[in-house]
Amino acid sequence: MGPFFSRGSRYAPLPADDNAHTQRQASGLRRRVTTTLKLVAVAVLHIVALSYLAITILRPELPHCDTPERGFQCSVPISHFWGQYSPYFSVQSKINAAVPADCELTFVQILSRHGARAPTPGRALLYASLIDRIHNVVTDYGPGYGFLKTYNYTLGADDLTPMGEQQMVNSGLKFYHRYRSLARTSAPFIRSSGQERVVRSAQNWTTGFQDALLKDGISWDSPLDELLIIPEDTDTNNTLHHGLCPAFEKGIYSSVGTDAQSVFLAVFAPPVTSRLNSNLPGANLTDSDTVALMDLCPFNTVASPFGAILSPFCDLFTPSEWSSYDYYQSLGKWYGFGPGNPLGPTQGVGFVNELLARLTRTPVRDATSTNATLDGDERTFPLNRTLYADFSHDNDMMSVLAALGVYEGVKNLDKSAQRTAKESGGYAASWAVPFAARVYVEKMRCGGGEELVRVLVNDRVIKLRGCQADELGRCTLERFVDSMAFARSGGHWSSCFA
Ligand SMILES: *[C@@H]1O[C@H](CO)[C@@H](O)[C@H](O)[C@H]1NC(C)=O
Ligand SMILES: *[C@@H]1O[C@H](CO)[C@@H](O)[C@H](O)[C@H]1NC(C)=O
Ligand SMILES: *[C@@H]1O[C@H](CO)[C@@H](O)[C@H](O)[C@H]1NC(C)=O
Ligand SMILES: *[C@@H]1O[C@H](CO)[C@@H](O)[C@H](O)[C@H]1NC(C)=O
Ligand SMILES: *[C@@H]1O[C@H](CO)[C@@H](O)[C@H](O)[C@H]1NC(C)=O
Ligand SMILES: *[C@@H]1O[C@H](CO)[C@@H](O)[C@H](O)[C@H]1NC(C)=O
Repeated sequence: MGPFFSRGSRYAPLPADDNAHTQRQASGLRRRVTTTLKLVAVAVLHIVALSYLAITILRPELPHCDTPERGFQCSVPISHFWGQYSPYFSVQSKINAAVPADCELTFVQILSRHGARAPTPGRALLYASLIDRIHNVVTDYGPGYGFLKTYNYTLGADDLTPMGEQQMVNSGLKFYHRYRSLARTSAPFIRSSGQERVVRSAQNWTTGFQDALLKDGISWDSPLDELLIIPEDTDTNNTLHHGLCPAFEKGIYSSVGTDAQSVFLAVFAPPVTSRLNSNLPGANLTDSDTVALMDLCPFNTVASPFGAILSPFCDLFTPSEWSSYDYYQSLGKWYGFGPGNPLGPTQGVGFVNELLARLTRTPVRDATSTNATLDGDERTFPLNRTLYADFSHDNDMMSVLAALGVYEGVKNLDKSAQRTAKESGGYAASWAVPFAARVYVEKMRCGGGEELVRVLVNDRVIKLRGCQADELGRCTLERFVDSMAFARSGGHWSSCFA
């Protein structure tokens, strides 16, 4: 914790950032990663320093792939098909996403994923050893594969990339401008799940918000709140991070997502794997190795300045293969944490009950993952705000979207035949939970009637179900609350301990 509404160090000189990165790397890697990655960390520091240099030196030449308004727009035919590793992009909305002219906003909640990051430690080790294996056995690299000969894994693990930080600054800017009528006068109440990259994302978002505020000529006389950080350990109730439900975490429901992915892996990957093997003779790659090599495309790209330098890994695969990859990742999230997992939506219930409390300004009623101590205290759970911002992860956001019923009525994803996001009611991992994903829940008053609620997922208005939504996708507050019966009754929380 600490006052965080001080000016961000976006334009800080290199040495300061370098030092921050040193500490970050050290603390991030100490706990979980083995010697291999520690060696890698040294390289990472160089890469980070180089990226900063590159950002400074190359700034004029690099395309601005990532704007606050539209998100990531470089190499769209593939970069919008990287599943949860796609950088946020504004998703097309069938319903006009603008706030209707005759309406006045009265409330906004944003639920955001952290920005682009390095791979998780487990995946990082796997990538590093796969590259080693290729180096050890392959002598004859096929055309287009030569770069692999000198490629070393140097991305480190877990941390936001510079581009990931900038995504969050951009998100804060965009939020301010979109919700200026409220943001000019109301400080958002901000919470973050405890992992470092999430906290940092919350801080970067706040910098963007505050920069926009200052540029707008506003300065508040009252001090702004501190960021409320909720730890991610397994015995802490945290609505921004799952972990309390044993049947979901390690019981029979813990492998539903990976099982679904295995089915589709066997459908889409074999021809890709044999092509890779014929270009990397001796490597004897498996279908899972193919996915790992595909992962290295988004991860290396988001590690480049502005994400503007497309990794050579990306060119090893066709746009149609990227769309299969997107579907493979979509299956993992849908069946792992979303509507396709019998206990997925239940993991999002605690957050939805908090949202209902905020929307109706009444105390939280929940017996799942909320912390009654935190939520019963107006300093840690105020009810009189108009803006709320929460920072979390893709998996948790999937469960919240499912608990909100955003994909109600969408048929369970086919495990063996690919469908487009459009065919899946607007669901794809890349449309729902990309890096720096954001869900907005808006409440507005239009004319004299009752307040209306609507939900936007990465700028796409979702037509709410089960509450008689109007043609703009909105329901009255009362009907919306009624329609959240699943969350209000605790979902299937009791099955967690069955
Ligand atoms: C993001 O936040 C971290 C921690 O507060 C800070 O060190 C970093 O400079 C910020 N990045 C940007 C782009 O503002
Ligand atoms: C990759 O790592 C190997 C072994 O550590 C080293 O010999 C080689 O120089 C590295 N290559 C590059 C391009 O950094
Ligand atoms: C609830 O929050 C309080 C205040 O932060 C904390 O001391 C306590 O450990 C939390 N309890 C659980 C079960 O998360
Ligand atoms: C290739 O890998 C498979 C299993 O992954 C193994 O059965 C086979 O023996 C391997 N072939 C070679 C030539 O190493
Ligand atoms: C934490 O959650 C459990 C349900 O999983 C609940 O029994 C307990 O009372 C909660 N603790 C607090 C402090 O709210
Ligand atoms: C909310 O209530 C608290 C405590 O009653 C008060 O200090 C604060 O000014 C109120 N905030 C707003 C935005 O009304």
